[in-house]
Amino acid sequence: MSAAASIELPPWAAASEKRRAHIARVTALIEAWAEAMALAADARAAWRDAARLHDAMRDAPVAELRRWCPDPAVPDPLLHGPAVAARLASEGERRADVLEAIRWHTIGRAEWARTAATSVVFLLPIVIFTFLVRHHLLRGVTFGAVRR
Ligand SMILES: [Fe+2]
Repeated sequence: MSAAASIELPPWAAASEKRRAHIARVTALIEAWAEAMALAADARAAWRDAARLHDAMRDAPVAELRRWCPDPAVPDPLLHGPAVAARLASEGERRADVLEAIRWHTIGRAEWARTAATSVVFLLPIVIFTFLVRHHLLRGVTFGAVRR
């Protein structure tokens, strides 16, 4: 069984195989951190669940995401975090740190607790990729009109 196949997601999850592989990698890394830090069992479970569920609706249609996050101030690419948090809360999830980590994992938040701060791991690949291809991105956005 692949790591992606071993990730347990809710039945309402909308995550492609590629997304599930990402979730599996992030969860494995978070679990390694929790192990290295010798966290208590409840904190370890919170970290694991935040990692496991953060992108559970990443591939859901915008209309479905808006149903769970109707705030018009939230742009479409950021909807999946608040939508997952709202859905989990509606099903009884009460761990505020888990919900906060999932809700804000795309952009972060200054008031984060430690569990939520682990979601920096979710963002690191995007930050590194963007840094590495920043010059190409600028050229692509301007259709080559900008020269270095
Ligand atoms: Fe995400």
